[in-house]
Amino acid sequence: MRVLSGIQPTGRFHWGNYFGAIRQYIELQQGQEAYYFIANLHALTTIRDPETLRRLSWDAAVDLLALGLDPDRAALFLQSDVPEVSELCWLLMTGTPLGLLERCHAFKEKKEKGITADAGLFTYPVLMAADILAYDADAVPVGEDQIQHIEVCRDLARSFNHRYGDVFVMPKAKVLEHAAKVPGLDGGKMSKSYNNTIEIFEDPKAARKKIMRIVTDARPMEEPKDPADDHLFALFALFAPPDQRAAMDATYRRGGFGYGEVKKGLADLAEAYFAEARARREDLEANPKRVADVLAAGAERARRKARQVLDRAQAAMGLKVDRAP
Ligand code: TYM
Repeated sequence: MRVLSGIQPTGRFHWGNYFGAIRQYIELQQGQEAYYFIANLHALTTIRDPETLRRLSWDAAVDLLALGLDPDRAALFLQSDVPEVSELCWLLMTGTPLGLLERCHAFKEKKEKGITADAGLFTYPVLMAADILAYDADAVPVGEDQIQHIEVCRDLARSFNHRYGDVFVMPKAKVLEHAAKVPGLDGGKMSKSYNNTIEIFEDPKAARKKIMRIVTDARPMEEPKDPADDHLFALFALFAPPDQRAAMDATYRRGGFGYGEVKKGLADLAEAYFAEARARREDLEANPKRVADVLAAGAERARRKARQVLDRAQAAMGLKVDRAP
């Protein structure tokens, strides 16, 4: 199995990124061929300040390594270091129906809000399809919000293969059941664009303050509560070991507790959970050459693979004219 995923450097990574995606990257690097990249070309559709983009892309690489991405197992690289993907994007674009892109959430949402979208945002899913198809990926670990984009990728691959022959491998999304949609401070999906995130490497004191602000309902303490429809419990369950999770589940059903206690427990668990990664991050910060070397080696490996796939696509489409027809 070949695994691939991308993550945008549009802000520092948050708990949703970690539990929905990054944790899977780390599990899946074991024993598979894996490619993980920082989607800086996609980020260009929202970040226009070059220094900000450079800073966030660098931090993204450091964060992923600190969280356990192992460059001896998985290639870690910047999306823009593999120009073959941008060419493949054009090849796919020539067979992409406009209607397919018009139905995609990101574009539809902006349009509904009256924001004028540019061609980059509109064609975003085609670049994402090229990202996936360029590495013959079978499995794409993501959160639920990316499923639609992977369906677009499968549609494009299917129609390309139908027209030009079997060029692309058909990828599948890999979504974790309990972390498909990690809730944010307000109970909606945790997302940079909703300003409801808690960052993985946020200062623990600041994180604690945010946790104490998680929105809860006003039901009396004594009342038993169903943990299944409570976003505070959902967050607690992501961090808690099974025995603590079961105990908290029982507390909810029994009633007679305050949300403040749950929040305090969550803050303690989260701080301990990321403590080792935080220490590794400090080591990496002190050794920037190591990070730069990892990105360079990752890009080289990724380019070798993407070149093979692009060659296959070019040949199938009649772009190779190196001999008489
Ligand atoms: P991005 O950068 O928005 O998010 C990165 C990953 O984090 C997941 N995620 C979540 N999962 C669960 N709950 C949440 N609240 C939550 N918030 C974010 C996302 O599902 C994603 O897996 N278009 C992609 C980047 C991309 C890509 C690709 C992904 C570009 N090319 C090719 C896979 C394959 C994006 O914007 O993800």
